[in-house]
Amino acid sequence: MDNPLATLSSQLMQTTLVRYYHRLYLDFPDVHMKDMTQEESGAGRRIRLDGRWVTNFGSDSFLGLDKHPAVLQSLALGIQKWGSHNGCSRAFSSVEANEIAEARLASWLKAPSALIFPSVTLTNLGALPALLTRHDALVVDQYAHHCIHQGAKIAKSQGIATSTFQHNDPDSLERTLARLRPYRHAIIAMDGVYSMSGTVPPLVEFQRIARQHRAVLYVDDAHGTGVLGERGRGTVLDTLGNYDNTLVVGSLSKGLSCFGGFIACNPQIKFALKVRSGPMVFGGPVPPPYLEAIATVMDIMESEEGLLLLSNLRENMEHFNRLALEAGLFPKGGIGAIASLLIGDEMATMTAGKLLFERGFFVQSVIFPAVPHKQGILRVQINAIHTQEQIQGLVEAIASVVEELGLALNPMDAPNQLVHTNL
Ligand SMILES: Cc1ncc(COP(=O)(O)O)c(C=O)c1O
Repeated sequence: MDNPLATLSSQLMQTTLVRYYHRLYLDFPDVHMKDMTQEESGAGRRIRLDGRWVTNFGSDSFLGLDKHPAVLQSLALGIQKWGSHNGCSRAFSSVEANEIAEARLASWLKAPSALIFPSVTLTNLGALPALLTRHDALVVDQYAHHCIHQGAKIAKSQGIATSTFQHNDPDSLERTLARLRPYRHAIIAMDGVYSMSGTVPPLVEFQRIARQHRAVLYVDDAHGTGVLGERGRGTVLDTLGNYDNTLVVGSLSKGLSCFGGFIACNPQIKFALKVRSGPMVFGGPVPPPYLEAIATVMDIMESEEGLLLLSNLRENMEHFNRLALEAGLFPKGGIGAIASLLIGDEMATMTAGKLLFERGFFVQSVIFPAVPHKQGILRVQINAIHTQEQIQGLVEAIASVVEELGLALNPMDAPNQLVHTNL
């Protein structure tokens, strides 16, 4: 008789994505540049990856706070004070460091209050279904991050009307909302910075539509937190000037180099999410040492040093954009900390990543399913602690790889937005 686990395992190996990656790993072991192991992390964004020292242009720690002495010290003190973990759902109790971190976050953001989840993924999976009821509607940008779409699936399973609208398209958004009527309220969900392209949504236009259609904007600004706007407060405040009629989700794990995600909202919504959101009630919290570190990161963001780090990041991004354009590389995005070069073909994209690696630079060579098929990209993540020489070296290396592979980077060929595909 069949062993059910053995049958399940071999059937899983036959599913499309697993077969695709299995073949990729078997047929192109030296080129795919996935599933690598980082053995050491040195100074100045140098890492030893699969045995080779390279400069890392694939880090989300955009401000370089992951190595900041005060952040490391608060983590160590947090361990002494609280131990490694608080084994209790926040439905019962929160460590004081959690309350302080939320208050500090809200004050830095100039938002009424904030609620911390263990990741941005869990924020979206938890908040989207909990914010609405079966009288309401949820519309999502077709290229919003995977976890927003997953949150929408949970919402749909609870009887909430859901739909997608065309990427960054106000007309499509209006048509979609009109089609879902009648509803009591709607939420319009999108990314604040699209993580593969570094591009941003037309928030002013979306806000006008939201108000006309009894809808609230929900902006997942994971890649804008700590990066965009005054003191890094993010895309929403930078573009709209306030949080009126807007819920903002942000990351603690990227620009802020701690751990977790959060939603900035009013106290009523915070209370409702604390009792209605699954991951908050039934799951565990961010470990206390990281909550202690958040307060320290807030000190930095509000200090002269924070301003300096942000200005370094912006200068570095501008430096990359300028050099890349001069080299005929046509980067997309380049507003916050992410710029992408459209290579297209999967094999060419992976080979370009591999050749850059051999020249001493790691950038993510991103292929399907993180981007649509035949829209492979080199995704460059600029950090405040990169040196201008490192950036110049990277651009020269990319230009030489483009030439060696005979790639034609033409701005007219590139789609307007490179995006996460939604599996
Ligand atoms: C817009 C957006 N949301 C969510 C995530 C996932 O964040 P986390 O790793 O905290 O779950 C990302 C990660 O890149 C993202 O870009």
